[in-house]
Amino acid sequence: MKTIAICGSQRENGNTEFFMRVVLDELASKGVETEFVSLRGKTIQPCRGCYQCLSAGHCTIEDDFAEVFDKMRAADGILIGSPVYVARPTALMSALLERATFSGRAAGQPLAGKVGGPVTVARRTGQAFASAELLLWFFINDIVVPGSMYWNVGVAGARGAFDAETDAEGVEIMKRYAVNMERVMTALAKHGGMAESADRDKLFFQPAKA
Ligand SMILES: Cc1cc2nc3c(=O)[nH]c(=O)nc-3n(C[C@H](O)[C@H](O)[C@H](O)COP(=O)(O)O)c2cc1C
Repeated sequence: MKTIAICGSQRENGNTEFFMRVVLDELASKGVETEFVSLRGKTIQPCRGCYQCLSAGHCTIEDDFAEVFDKMRAADGILIGSPVYVARPTALMSALLERATFSGRAAGQPLAGKVGGPVTVARRTGQAFASAELLLWFFINDIVVPGSMYWNVGVAGARGAFDAETDAEGVEIMKRYAVNMERVMTALAKHGGMAESADRDKLFFQPAKA
């Protein structure tokens, strides 16, 4: 089993990366293969609403999206992490997620049945709003989200500080989330995964009437 952690921060060794690596280390200790993927320096444009993915079966914008999306498709677990920017995930992360959802539907919802969850980090507040946005993304993509003893949020970075390790409660939340994630992934694999996708995808993609 493999989990990838996609981080929407532009900062190297940032606070979001710290908490995501806590999850990955815990998963690795249970035998799960892990990969950390930073969006830093990548070009991922927002969806331009061209609808070309419906006929092409993939997003036709040429940038770094396909490389990241291919990794998401190949993984069993997907962790999505973002610093909170004005109570939301970063614009870069939002661009990835909107394109993954729309072109993913055109590609037969390849993320359905995976296990995942959000990690959000803020200096003071906004994690719950950002997490809620990310949860909506997981659920529309038919991804199973385990819980933890609290939301997967960290508190760090006053005045831009790299001090995530001082949030002991945040670290414990991430560890427990990882334990639950591994158990859900293992249980799903044992029982043949989630239900097959229904006809609603065909309904969603009925061509528009002229
Ligand atoms: C553009 C911008 C917007 C931010 N908005 C918020 C916010 O709404 N609430 C908050 O508590 N912190 C906010 N912060 C602080 C970051 O969320 C915080 O420093 C976080 O730890 C950065 O994570 P990183 O090191 O992974 O990039 C903001 C920072 C920036 C640069």
